[in-house]
Amino acid sequence: MKINLVSRAHDFARERLGGISRIFAVDATAGNGHDTAFLAELAGTSGKVVAFDVQSEALEATRARLAKNGLGGNVELFLCGHEKMAETLGSEWHGNVNAVFFNLGYLPKGDHAITTLPETTLRALDAAWEMLAPGGFISLTVYTRHAGGFEESAQIADWLGKMRARAEILTCGEHNPVEPWWAGVVK
Ligand SMILES: C[S@@+](CC[C@H](N)C(=O)[O-])C[C@H]1O[C@@H](n2cnc3c(N)ncnc32)[C@H](O)[C@@H]1O
Repeated sequence: MKINLVSRAHDFARERLGGISRIFAVDATAGNGHDTAFLAELAGTSGKVVAFDVQSEALEATRARLAKNGLGGNVELFLCGHEKMAETLGSEWHGNVNAVFFNLGYLPKGDHAITTLPETTLRALDAAWEMLAPGGFISLTVYTRHAGGFEESAQIADWLGKMRARAEILTCGEHNPVEPWWAGVVK
């Protein structure tokens, strides 16, 4: 049976974020805005969401999805690489972030040559980890089949290996290296 990794990530977030009165969430890869909209809904009017993408096309799609769903009042979008999240976000975010979503790879229906890259993804993961509140988490959905995807997946698996001493790590699908997989990394 194929596991729906997006649902896995969203279920995990619902479980972990339920009961938090003021949610601070980061969507590190806005793409078509599914995760941003999901986080915006969870955060409600008391919380805040920021989303990053390097393509204006992605941010336009995200903005449109938010508007269509009556969301967005609590969301700020950045046309900027996620590896710059620490210097981009103000002091209220540092140490207070409850969730950081990464959904790696390329923009579906966009330019498949523009993908997340191992070096910047790893920098962003380190930055995200530093910004998390205690109990906060990183949700990582990793794809392997596009150009460079396998290398990125392998480097993330190494990063998770190093994090095991400090983080609670849950994975789904990682045992099959050619299929997409998911990890939750809890501080
Ligand atoms: C699989 S899509 C994300 C899907 C999205 N989460 C959704 O719900 O629709 C991956 C996105 O990562 C973006 N991306 C690539 N490199 C990036 C970087 N350094 N920082 C932020 N986003 C990046 C791509 O432009 C693409 O839109």
